[in-house]
Amino acid sequence: MRQHVNPLSQFFQLPLSLPSNNVLFKKSHHPIHLDIGSAKGEFLIELAIKYPDWNFVGLEIRKPLVSQCEKKRKKLELNNLKFLFCNVNISLDEWLSNLNYGQLKRVSIQFPDPWFKRKHFKRRVLKTNLINSIAKSMSKDGEIFIQSDIFKLIEYMTNTIDKSRYFYRKDLGEMRITDNNPYNVQTERELYSLKKNLKIHRAMYIRNSLLYVN
Ligand SMILES: C[S@@+](CC[C@H](N)C(=O)[O-])C[C@H]1O[C@@H](n2cnc3c(N)ncnc32)[C@H](O)[C@@H]1O
Repeated sequence: MRQHVNPLSQFFQLPLSLPSNNVLFKKSHHPIHLDIGSAKGEFLIELAIKYPDWNFVGLEIRKPLVSQCEKKRKKLELNNLKFLFCNVNISLDEWLSNLNYGQLKRVSIQFPDPWFKRKHFKRRVLKTNLINSIAKSMSKDGEIFIQSDIFKLIEYMTNTIDKSRYFYRKDLGEMRITDNNPYNVQTERELYSLKKNLKIHRAMYIRNSLLYVN
């Protein structure tokens, strides 16, 4: 399987119509946690087992990974979890617009980019448009959690969210480098970073009450 794909290539620029929330989940009224760049899916699988009253959606640009995750999910008979193939920068906005306002409660973007070099800036996942799409669908108190082991990248991500007026940063208090993330479930990249003793930078953002203006 290819380690990375280029999200700017023509193929990944084609918009996909993602199945609506009602089609994905029987209990479609449950709150939604969206994980952007879900890779091998272990993070969401563990959460979906722990929290049956939530629906979880993993979005991933590497199609073979999505197929593998879906196989695992079906084997575990997890009906509150779905993995979808897409380039989030192209196809997520429409899917979010079709949700009931306020249903999106959590978004996690964890170790998102292999594209941390400046020359690859345009390939990065977290962009102002993506933050605006999330803000549009999220009511007050919804959250975005981000983490990375690359300081320049977390700096870029926090600057991008800080510039949007729709979120404020929550103090993560005593949480330090080696502590778990706030969901107490670690991602694959997080486990790798911890094993390598890499410093992990984390931030939590909360949706404020400012109305979305398009
Ligand atoms: C470094 S991995 C981290 C995976 C996982 N979140 C973790 O923490 O272990 C980043 C993932 O984001 C995916 N990704 C990158 N750009 C994307 C995009 N535009 N849309 C959807 N997924 C993307 C990559 O294919 C990759 O699987």
